[in-house]
Amino acid sequence: MLIKREQRILLAGEDIAASDITARAVFDNRRRVLQAAGAAGLAVAGGALGFGRAAFGAYASPDAKAHKLVAATNAKFVVDEKVTPYQDVTTYNNFYEFGTGKSDPSQNAGTLRPHPWRISVEGEIKNPKVYDIDELLKLAPLEERVYRHRCVEGWSMVIPWVGYPLAELIKRAQPTNNAKFVQFITLADPSQMPGIADPILNWPYSEGLRMDEALNPLTLLTMGVYGQVLPNQNGAPIRVVLPWKYGFKSAKSIVKIRFVEQQPPTSWNTYAPHEYGFYSNVNPNVDHPRWSQATERRIGEDGFFKPKRKTLMFNGYGPLVASMYQGMDLRKYF
Ligand code: MTE
Repeated sequence: MLIKREQRILLAGEDIAASDITARAVFDNRRRVLQAAGAAGLAVAGGALGFGRAAFGAYASPDAKAHKLVAATNAKFVVDEKVTPYQDVTTYNNFYEFGTGKSDPSQNAGTLRPHPWRISVEGEIKNPKVYDIDELLKLAPLEERVYRHRCVEGWSMVIPWVGYPLAELIKRAQPTNNAKFVQFITLADPSQMPGIADPILNWPYSEGLRMDEALNPLTLLTMGVYGQVLPNQNGAPIRVVLPWKYGFKSAKSIVKIRFVEQQPPTSWNTYAPHEYGFYSNVNPNVDHPRWSQATERRIGEDGFFKPKRKTLMFNGYGPLVASMYQGMDLRKYF
């Protein structure tokens, strides 16, 4: 991240200004959620009458060719803020396997083949298994959740994801008492990923969580966005989303989920341990050594000259996550 440092920060500003000019109409989130909740209410009644489970997404991808992934909106996990336009969510990305520029992933990720795809769930568990992505899609009811997404570089978005809690998979895996951490290992195939030729990071990209973090209800095993399967640049076909942590913790295009006893090595922490901690919880009080984390720029909304918005502790998810870090010095465990 920010490897080409100052230059990258300037480029980010230019991108924001451009997307401000071309921004698509943003959605009235509140109205849509109310609509979805109303629809879900009807569906519950329908379920009792034998119509089956609620299946309503409040957000639809404008890409007519995209494979749709309809899911009931879980209003408990919908942040009441304007959702970032689809165009920005799918063209302003970090996915270094496809290049380090923000538009590189959307331009280069066409070579990724997200189907068929297998994910190995292994390590300190009673039920190791290699899942096919189609099987994982059906493992638990899909939900639509609208989360804040804060990148360590200082920009943010609000994104309607589709997935289900990682806890659903963990429950089936049955971790042993030795499972203290979960590691996510992502695809590193030079034939599909041109960026792998550049040894910026120690490929494959890898991330990790403590077991309680992995089991937290916010932790979303994610297969879709905007009511469609994930576009390649957003981490197709499967990623995690951890809205209280900086975006780099949310590993894309996962091929292995491994349960381990020791804290696993993770890509950015290995690259620069003093800059990117293992926890990387969003924290406006702990600056990155080279820039402040107190504020952020909302992509597609905040112009270059608009005052930045204040970053919230745990990205605003404190009530759901703060208890996991009680007693920990968050300056030390940043
Ligand atoms: N996963 C992989 N495999 N490779 C990456 O380069 N970048 C991370 C994270 N997951 C990255 C990754 C970073 S830095 C961020 S901010 C988010 O993905 C970006 O997710 P988005 O492009 O969907 O917004």
